[in-house]
Amino acid sequence: MQSQTQANLSAYHTFGIDQTCQHLVHVQSVQEIIDVYQHREWQTLPKLILGKGSNMLFTQPYQGVVLVNQLLGKTVTESTDAWHLHIQAGEDWPSLVAWSLEQGFSGLENLALIPGCAGSAPIQNIGAYGMEFKDVCEYVEFLDLTTFQTQRLTREQCLFGYRDSIFKHQLYQRVMITAVGIKLDKQWQPKAEYGPLKALPQHALTANMIFDQVCSVRREKLPDPERQGNAGSFFKNPVISEQQFQALKPRFPDIVGFSVEGGVKVAAGWLIDHCGLKGLKLGGAQIHPNQALVIVNVAKASANDVIQLAAKVRDTVWETYQIHLEHEVRFIGATEETYLDQLVERQA
Ligand code: FAD
Ligand code: EPU
Repeated sequence: MQSQTQANLSAYHTFGIDQTCQHLVHVQSVQEIIDVYQHREWQTLPKLILGKGSNMLFTQPYQGVVLVNQLLGKTVTESTDAWHLHIQAGEDWPSLVAWSLEQGFSGLENLALIPGCAGSAPIQNIGAYGMEFKDVCEYVEFLDLTTFQTQRLTREQCLFGYRDSIFKHQLYQRVMITAVGIKLDKQWQPKAEYGPLKALPQHALTANMIFDQVCSVRREKLPDPERQGNAGSFFKNPVISEQQFQALKPRFPDIVGFSVEGGVKVAAGWLIDHCGLKGLKLGGAQIHPNQALVIVNVAKASANDVIQLAAKVRDTVWETYQIHLEHEVRFIGATEETYLDQLVERQA
């Protein structure tokens, strides 16, 4: 088991902000995870499981042990109607999507180029271009961090929702996901109703065409973390009541929203953009000039630059529309997860 003390986390999260942790350990097997949790000197220290760090903001130096997920391996079995992929949690998600198409297994193409590990995909039920992880999930396998037993949950038991699952609630901090089971139907059905996919020739679609289109739109719309640190959408798209949406319409006729269960899901990027915040800089952090939902590290941003800029967005959006934005990015404090509202009081 490889471990470092006082390690710099900048290469371990996509914001690329300098921040340290007390111990950094790469785990390559379930036994190594158990060893970390049973390590005599580390037993009382807080622990954080890290995939590729593409949904993380370290707000302070982390005073505990960071476990970097490196559980690797893929196996495929076949049934009459589907391919069944058993994927170890540390496998790289975008590589998995490309690999599965090369093997001739269609079904993951809409989720191309989403950074992160396969084992992180169920946590916020990753989604893009009309599809979510739940649509292909057969099961999620995890290690219970109290009993050190491995268990499986079916898709239904994972309680998936928009950027949500049981792993953010009942099982929060109690398990480490070790593998995911993905079922890809041999009778492939394209999903091409979402925005830029509609332009494709619907009668002659292939999975590779969807993959290429998703990759090209994502490359055009989203900043590449290799060049400009970021964690994708910083906030979730909020769901407001139909009544509130209709009340906003006369003032903001172009407001973008669509009906979902429980109300109207509004495009947070539109809200931020239309209160004039696009391109705003604070220290080394900036609201991306082309995609207002993304905060980028343009010039050695500190965590505080990002926090203050995010607070400015939250407050301006509230003042303008009376809509509260909730951050999708996970904020990690010195010993535990923290939240923007705890770090900076709401001004409005
Ligand atoms: P991390 O950021 O390392 O971890 C995320 C959370 O999961 C943390 O709380 C961590 O403690 C926990 N965790 C990680 N691994 C485990 C495990 N094995 N067991 C238990 N807990 C664990 N997301 C979307 O849904 N759709 C998108 O289109 C999308 N686009 C993005 C584009 C860019 C440029 C970027 C940077 C991010 C984007 N994201 C998107 C967000 C991100 O890709 C996903 O949230 C991804 O699933 C995070 O994976 P990760 O391995 O980096 O997780
Ligand atoms: N918009 C603006 N101005 C902006 C940004 C967006 O007006 O600066 C408008 C767009 O014109 C569009 C609407 O807002 O009408 C939605 O924009 P887009 O299609 O780019 O999607 P998004 O809501 O910004 C969501 C996900 C992304 C996912 C894409 C594609 C959330 C929080 N974000 O983004 O996921 O890739 O849809 O499906 O749900 C992520 O979670 O990190 C992420 C990148």
